[in-house]
Amino acid sequence: MKKTTLFSIAIIAAIFLTSCNNQTTTKAGITKVAWGTTDGKEVFLFTLTNAKGVQVKISNYGATVTSWVSPDINNKASGIVLGFDSLSGYLAKPPYFGAVVGRYGNRIAKGKFKIDTAQYTLATNNGSNALHGGLKGFDKQVWDATPASDSTASLLLSYISKDGEEGYPGNLKVTVLYTLTDDNELKIEYNATTDKATVLNLTNHSYFNLTGDVNNTILDHTLMIDADNYTPVDTTLIPTGEIKSVKGTPFDFTKAKKIGQEIAAVSGGGYDHNWVLNKKDSSLQKIVELKDAISGRTLEVFTTQPGVQFYTGNFLDGTISISDGKKINQHAALCLETQHFPDSPNEPKFPTTLLLPGQQFHSVTVYKLSLK
Ligand code: GLA
Repeated sequence: MKKTTLFSIAIIAAIFLTSCNNQTTTKAGITKVAWGTTDGKEVFLFTLTNAKGVQVKISNYGATVTSWVSPDINNKASGIVLGFDSLSGYLAKPPYFGAVVGRYGNRIAKGKFKIDTAQYTLATNNGSNALHGGLKGFDKQVWDATPASDSTASLLLSYISKDGEEGYPGNLKVTVLYTLTDDNELKIEYNATTDKATVLNLTNHSYFNLTGDVNNTILDHTLMIDADNYTPVDTTLIPTGEIKSVKGTPFDFTKAKKIGQEIAAVSGGGYDHNWVLNKKDSSLQKIVELKDAISGRTLEVFTTQPGVQFYTGNFLDGTISISDGKKINQHAALCLETQHFPDSPNEPKFPTTLLLPGQQFHSVTVYKLSLK
């Protein structure tokens, strides 16, 4: 056989093997693999890699962060967020692992709210309340996704939520831009527009365990939240409307303390509350510092949003196992969901979550990982 023929066969074989593997290298620092189908739509898993070799994986199913692998103080790499390595884990409806939640993250009392004189009724999926966008919120939708930059590891996801979906008014166009920077920051930018007055509260529901091993609880992590106040809740986790000082309560994280220090005094199995951030405007500011002494990892959170839901995984009960087979028990991970306050559509004194036609919703949250 001629050399050129052999060469052509080799090239064809290489192309064939690459397509079997379903992997395509796309733009800067991003690879894409086919990850299955649902609702008749293709699902993909994107891997974002930065110059330090840190990797974040994101699926267009629910705009979900499925994995974030980074080195610890001994240079041992491990995953710091809960996730699955196949789509089936997510189709089994875990409690929002890594997903973008919406149209309204957190709760709306009795699934009802008014805009002017129009009364809206949502699907109730959390006792008598609506939680995280309803029965099929943004976390269970297949988004469009495309790498967004030639120079940075950025992935743009978009979704159109139709007028009336889960009871919400207005066709809402929403985009989420994830960027993994070379400083080990995962930056999340949310944008949305509507053609009819609606309410909106978008967040990411990643569960963190900085030790890199879910067999350790997060109770020994130390946490600082830059908030002098929080919003107390009733037994169904709906805010009472009061803005209450954290001073002298287990909710005081103004100075860093261990999460487990006073958690036993919090009813409901731990923290699941909204902190009213001290920041006075919608500029991007640091609001949280979370540290784990075992791994040496620190997570700082910056946001433009007015609140953060700090949730200590109280409802995790060992019935779910993640990719490595480990069971997820209570307090195996925690969420820091930057957001507007729960039930804002029914609380005129809370910052508004109303989005009107012609307005552009924009918010930014950054999770920054470092070794300190
Ligand atoms: C949020 C809520 C919690 C719980 C989790 C998901 O953090 O505030 O009450 O619903 O999501 O289980």
